[in-house]
Amino acid sequence: MSVTVLILAFLPLRASDDRLVPGKPLVPGATIVSDGGDFALGFFAPSSSGPANLHLGIWYNGVPELTVVWVANRETPVTNSTTPKLSLTNTSDLVLSDGNGSDHIVVWTTRVKAASSSSSPTAVLMNTGNLVVRSPNGTTLWQSFDHPTDTLLPGMKMALKHGTRDGERLVSWKGAGNPSPGNFSYGTDMDTFPQVFLWEGTRPVYRGPPWTGYRVKSDYQYQTSSTSSIIIYLAVVNDGNQSYTTFTVSDGAWLTRCVVTYTGELQIQSWNASSSAWAVLGKWPPYPCVSYGYCGPNGYCDETARPLPTCKCLDGFVPASTRDWTGGRFSEGCRRKEPLRGCTAGAGAGFVSLPGMKPADGFVLVANRTLEGCAAECDRNCSCVAYAYANLSSATSRGDMTRCLVWAGELVDTGKLGASSPASDTLYLRLARLDVAAGKKTKHNAVRIALTAIGSSVVIIMCIFLAWLKFSGNTRWSTSCCQKAK
Ligand SMILES: *[C@@H]1O[C@H](CO)[C@@H](O)[C@H](O)[C@H]1NC(C)=O
Ligand SMILES: *[C@@H]1O[C@H](CO)[C@@H](O)[C@H](O)[C@H]1NC(C)=O
Ligand SMILES: *[C@@H]1O[C@H](CO)[C@@H](O)[C@H](O)[C@H]1NC(C)=O
Ligand SMILES: *[C@@H]1O[C@H](CO)[C@@H](O)[C@H](O)[C@H]1NC(C)=O
Ligand SMILES: *[C@@H]1O[C@H](CO)[C@@H](O)[C@H](O)[C@H]1NC(C)=O
Ligand SMILES: *[C@@H]1O[C@H](CO)[C@@H](O)[C@H](O)[C@H]1NC(C)=O
Ligand SMILES: *[C@@H]1O[C@H](CO)[C@@H](O)[C@H](O)[C@H]1NC(C)=O
Ligand SMILES: *[C@@H]1O[C@H](CO)[C@@H](O)[C@H](O)[C@H]1NC(C)=O
Ligand SMILES: *[C@@H]1O[C@H](CO)[C@@H](O)[C@H](O)[C@H]1NC(C)=O
Ligand SMILES: *[C@@H]1O[C@H](CO)[C@@H](O)[C@H](O)[C@H]1NC(C)=O
Repeated sequence: MSVTVLILAFLPLRASDDRLVPGKPLVPGATIVSDGGDFALGFFAPSSSGPANLHLGIWYNGVPELTVVWVANRETPVTNSTTPKLSLTNTSDLVLSDGNGSDHIVVWTTRVKAASSSSSPTAVLMNTGNLVVRSPNGTTLWQSFDHPTDTLLPGMKMALKHGTRDGERLVSWKGAGNPSPGNFSYGTDMDTFPQVFLWEGTRPVYRGPPWTGYRVKSDYQYQTSSTSSIIIYLAVVNDGNQSYTTFTVSDGAWLTRCVVTYTGELQIQSWNASSSAWAVLGKWPPYPCVSYGYCGPNGYCDETARPLPTCKCLDGFVPASTRDWTGGRFSEGCRRKEPLRGCTAGAGAGFVSLPGMKPADGFVLVANRTLEGCAAECDRNCSCVAYAYANLSSATSRGDMTRCLVWAGELVDTGKLGASSPASDTLYLRLARLDVAAGKKTKHNAVRIALTAIGSSVVIIMCIFLAWLKFSGNTRWSTSCCQKAK
């Protein structure tokens, strides 16, 4: 390969169209522009690293503010003075090399190593932003869409690889002018079940709900003017050979991308040509409440609450510390009003159903169960505190269309999305007394408001409430609760 590069070094012809062929390397100052004009491939200098440091990348050709969507050499910049170039070898490899003569080094390469090297490959920059290396018979040998950096473009696939935590991830830049891999990443955790995560290092920052089996979700609709809007379709695809997620945008939509910023947000950005700026149409986490575990154990973020999503305790739970909770400190979470006493002990024990939820993290997936089987699985295991069931209805690569999730211990990072969201689940939660949560819901909520307002008078309020319940004929509310309250 070094021989190839040496010879090509004497033929630094400028590439001017949408493709790269062997013998015509791309050098700084020249670009390859996709047929259609949306994207350009070339060398760029990220602002703060100084003009001496160059990276090979793909950016929006028509956007005046340099917006890079893919970078080949993230960690190893090259300098303009050492004659860097991108070549396509006749063994179908893209090679970014730096230095002249015998000093040259390979900075980055695709390592396709096509078996047959007699044919002449081409590298084409598609108008989707995908750089594709093709053999003459049209077979795709390598594509940049398979190697995302910090940006997901419409049509790009993120593979779902079962049983691995090291699936494909978007990894943020280190800073505004530094494309080196930063602290934040976004991807799908397949270890248990498809859930998307935004991580800071190994710490989760945001978690999406476990997949409920939807294939296309178009929750994301953004009004961009009185006459136009952008609809973003998120799809989970299994084409028989592989599973992946991808997104597309409605026809005629603005240039749209999904990016993990170096500040730690996943953003959907669209180019607003009239203001000549990127409009952030959506960002995650959108408010602190949905950040991973923000509402503490057994608390949940009610995203349907207006005007702002707020932390609440799951039905049958109260704040572990009322003082902290009313002061906006939720990390202690919530505790049971009444502890569970074994599996079946106590009349009125059972599962309350909470529709429209984003179930907690830390579940165990039980294979091949019907809804009834899933309920039985949880019911008979005394350490099981909750379950959620979904019929995935579409094919999965494992051939099991059921999704039975069970939880033991504390429920962390639960949310409420509203029952209309296709990503929501019904969470079945085990309670010592079902009537606490379900039967007396309205009254119980009224008491919760009173608790918030009065704070220190908790015990008094509770006893008045209990007396009222007793008076109204609900004898199951025996004095055991009052004893507990004291
Ligand atoms: C690198 O040098 C070439 C030739 O001097 C120049 O045309 C080009 O603009 C420079 N590229 C960058 C990215 O600085
Ligand atoms: C080649 O690189 C060496 C060191 O990197 C430099 O001293 C020399 O001037 C370069 N030669 C040319 C022709 O650019
Ligand atoms: C590949 O390219 C190099 C340099 O252009 C040439 O010497 C070599 O013969 C080529 N190999 C084949 C199999 O065509
Ligand atoms: C196309 O070419 C590649 C290598 O250049 C080869 O591996 C593949 O089998 C070819 N496909 C067909 C359908 O000929
Ligand atoms: C990334 O993490 C390192 C080490 O934890 C920290 O020093 C740095 O400030 C972080 N950078 C950003 C942009 O948060
Ligand atoms: C699955 O893979 C086989 C062999 O690689 C290929 O022929 C077939 O077209 C693929 N199926 C789909 C739906 O992509
Ligand atoms: C796009 O820019 C125009 C002009 O500045 C502005 O009125 C409009 O609100 C912007 N739209 C979005 C969605 O940012
Ligand atoms: C699933 O369970 C049913 C009955 O419970 C059984 O007949 C079937 O073989 C199981 N399928 C798998 C893939 O384990
Ligand atoms: C899942 O849904 C499909 C189609 O709605 C149905 O045929 C199948 O019986 C369901 N499976 C289970 C386990 O509920
Ligand atoms: C009960 O659930 C716990 C936690 O999920 C699990 O470790 C244990 O094996 C289960 N026991 C039985 C008998 O299924």
